[in-house]
Amino acid sequence: MSRPELIVGFTEAEAARALRADAHAGLSDTPKWLSPKWLYDARGSELFERITELDEYYPTRAEHRILQRRAMEIAEMTEVDTLVELGSGSSDKTRLLLDAMRKNETLEQFIPLDVSASALRAATDAIAVDYPELTVRGVVGDFTTGLANLPAGNARMVAFLGGTIGNLLPAERAEFLAAVRTALHPGEWLLLGTDLVKDPDRLVRAYDDAVGVTAEFNRNVLHVLNRELGADFPVAEFEHVARWNPEREWMEMRLRATRPMRVSVPELELVVDFAEGEEIGTEISAKFRLERVRDELDAAGFALHRWWTDEAGDFAASLASVR
Ligand code: AVJ
Repeated sequence: MSRPELIVGFTEAEAARALRADAHAGLSDTPKWLSPKWLYDARGSELFERITELDEYYPTRAEHRILQRRAMEIAEMTEVDTLVELGSGSSDKTRLLLDAMRKNETLEQFIPLDVSASALRAATDAIAVDYPELTVRGVVGDFTTGLANLPAGNARMVAFLGGTIGNLLPAERAEFLAAVRTALHPGEWLLLGTDLVKDPDRLVRAYDDAVGVTAEFNRNVLHVLNRELGADFPVAEFEHVARWNPEREWMEMRLRATRPMRVSVPELELVVDFAEGEEIGTEISAKFRLERVRDELDAAGFALHRWWTDEAGDFAASLASVR
């Protein structure tokens, strides 16, 4: 069998340029920030997989239970011939959808889209072996370039799972949803996973686990800058901070310098000073309520058809169609 094709919407050189531009902007800003997308090199992706297995980190299991229960209903309601998955990562939950759509006999293509070519290679190869009747094509790209390069289909569904939409700021979310809307035709579908507002203590535990895997995951972004940009961040001297922001209803991950330090970033010709206790924002993870999901989908040109939560009401999957 031939290996699935990879469509490259985003070359390594473009990814390197984006990292440089992002790091320069974020480290020159007050307060300092780094985009969460740089957390996911090979080690970061592996650490995230370990997070999904932690007792404290409920979202992955909650979403899995929702899809286990609803995948067949989703397949029958939508009858799509093309499933596009954004930020595919490990294909665990995708398989629940693929299995249901295969049973329903409408699915022809699976198109995972990810910034990491190596992650895509592994995912597309594995899916192609287990679903030989499907055309599998990976698109290497970020959401913007990738969505502009979506293969045609007669009836497509874009799945964006895991609650990753929560990593975007409200204005970025609006822009992202509008881009998905533009990539699709009326009647095509979006399946969106969102984590929900809940007891702040549980949220903080989910983002600051007892074993310290999340702390390692967070600090990993500094390893990435040290490797890719020749920086000399003393990684162990940054503390993991996870805080609930009740006004914005999002979790914030930060890295706090435990002493004053000067870091140089040769590839950016940049020297960055930190005061003791100064923090770099590395991620927000927004938590949603039904009204906000419905309103944001509506504003982007989608109509919310179904909203499912797990039994505990921790996480939601929303099925929406283009108006
Ligand atoms: C992969 C973006 C959904 O926001 O919960 C896990 C990443 N950060 N622990 C999330 C993450 C800290 C995760 N997403």
